[in-house]
This record gives sequence, C-alpha cells and structure tokens, in this order.
Amino acid sequence: MWDEYFLGKTVVVGGGSTGIGAAAVEGFARAGANVVVADVADEIGSALTQSLTLEGHHALYRHCDVSNEADVESLFTLVDTTYGSLDVLYANAGIEWVKDVRHTTLDEWRRVLDVNLTGMFLLGRAAMRRLCAQKYGSIVVTSSPHALATVPDAGAYAASKGGVHALVRSLALEGAPYGVRVNGIVPGTIDTPMVQREAQAASDPEKQLELMASAHPLGRLGQPSEVANAALFLASPLASFITGSMVAVDGGLMAGLPAGPPLSYNNQT
Ligand SMILES: NC(=O)c1ccc[n+]([C@@H]2O[C@H](COP(=O)([O-])OP(=O)(O)OC[C@H]3O[C@@H](n4cnc5c(N)ncnc54)[C@H](O)[C@@H]3O)[C@@H](O)[C@H]2O)c1
Repeated sequence: MWDEYFLGKTVVVGGGSTGIGAAAVEGFARAGANVVVADVADEIGSALTQSLTLEGHHALYRHCDVSNEADVESLFTLVDTTYGSLDVLYANAGIEWVKDVRHTTLDEWRRVLDVNLTGMFLLGRAAMRRLCAQKYGSIVVTSSPHALATVPDAGAYAASKGGVHALVRSLALEGAPYGVRVNGIVPGTIDTPMVQREAQAASDPEKQLELMASAHPLGRLGQPSEVANAALFLASPLASFITGSMVAVDGGLMAGLPAGPPLSYNNQT
C-alpha cells in the first residue's frame, strides 16, 4: 500500500541499522524508496542494506556519526550526487544514558546531547536546506516520553529529548511556508536492542521486561514496525495537514497517571 507514496522517492534514515530505524528502513525500502541508512553500526547496517538489495530493493549504507558535522554534510552530498533530490528524512538515532545528574560528567552530558539533539539539528538543517529550496518533502524525528515526564537518573536523556520536541516545533514553523512538514514520534517502550540492553542491566531481565510491558495499558512492549508504520504515515501525503505534531505510539503509556490509591466514589448526584 505504501508504494503509491514512496516508489522512487529518496529517504535518509539516521540511526537505521537496528531497532526502530531498521524497521523504518525495511518499510521505506519495501515501499520502493531509495533508502540511505546513516549510522555508526557499520556491520549491522551494511548487512541490512545488502539483504534488502538482494531482495531487489534499493538501500545503501553510509557510515555517519550524526553528531559530526562533516559526516552529515558528506552524507547529504552523497544523496545529492546519487539521487539528485531528497524526499524524506527520518532522524531517529539516539543513545540512552542512565545516571543521576550529580554523577554525570560534562563529557557524558555532552555526548548524549550531541547524538540525541545536535544530531537532529545537523540532519534537520541539511534536509531543510534541500527540502525548502525544492518546496516539498517531509521530516520525521524520534523523540521520547522522557521529553514530557521522566524518572530519576535520566537527566541528560530527558533534556536531550525535550530539546527534540522544541526543535520539531521550530522546524515545522520554518518549513511550513515552503510546504515542508516536520513531525515527531513519541514511542512507548519498544522491543529494540536499546531496551534489551536496559533489561539485561537489571538483576532479573525477564522481570524487568515484564514490568516495562505492564506499564503500558495495552499490556505489552511495542514492536519496532509499529513505530515505523507511524514514520511512514507521517512522511507520506496521507499526513498532508499534519505538521509540528508529536505523535504517541505508546500503547496508552502517556494516557495514564502513575497508579495511586483507587478513587473513592463520593460523587454528588
Ligand atoms: N526503544 C524504545 O523503547 C524507545 C522509546 C522512546 C524513544 N526511543 C528512541 O528511538 C530511537 C531509536 O532507538 P531504538 O530503541 O531503536 O534503539 P537502538 O539502539 O536499537 O537504535 C539506535 C540506532 O542509532 C544508532 N546510533 C547511535 N549513535 C549514533 C550516532 N552517533 N550516529 C548515527 N547513528 C547512531 C545506533 O547504532 C542504532 O542503529 C532513539 O532515538 C531512542 O531514543 C526508543
């Protein structure tokens, strides 16, 4: 069904080697797009693009640390010379950091902000220059519920994702006069290598995964393809009047307040 929207289009996925990004790469490639995967996990990313190419799809891998300006500029030069234009940027790369602020070093803080926020700025800036000049195209980014409400020991990650929300709004307003749309996705807990690493760090990983799942009203973790579907939708003309939005793909996670005592039914009728 997505072929109608992406056949022959050029899509860059930042952080496309594993997890949510890899599912989006598969989605865009199977819809007929030319997909450029930009990541630092070179072996996994190359294996992904090779297997898609063997299936007859168009995907190529490019090493790109999204926090490195030269890497990002050279990525987009590759897109210009190979495809001539860009249709979609999905900026999804991110790293997690679990440490309380008192013990976070400046280098650790900077690394999280560099990848999660500056990476979105560098990719977004390069894409905006092209999309606004040609007056079409769309950007989607991956944010996090931590942008809105967080837990202890996630200060750098939460701050980086808060910045991503703000950046989406700015880019959406700057792109709107040119018909360029910019939106974000707010995933719940999705079963990806990032979440598996987080679970493995707990004393009982299985229990940890169960607890993560039960925090979602739908009672399970999300799948990467469920987030990828939202990315394809937001990038497509089906979302033609949606810009500046943060779309939750979270199994209802953010619909609820933390569980407290049951409410007392003392309504006066
Ligand atoms: N999995 C979840 O539950 C969840 C929830 C909310 C938000 N997110 C966000 O979703 C995005 C994808 O996460 P995921 O769960 O698929 O994790 P993941 O670790 O599987 O994927 C992250 C990808 O980003 C790449 N990456 C990391 N640093 C990079 C850099 N400097 N330059 C280029 N690529 C880099 C990794 O190599 C990897 O391919 C992240 O932005 C994350 O913060 C994930």
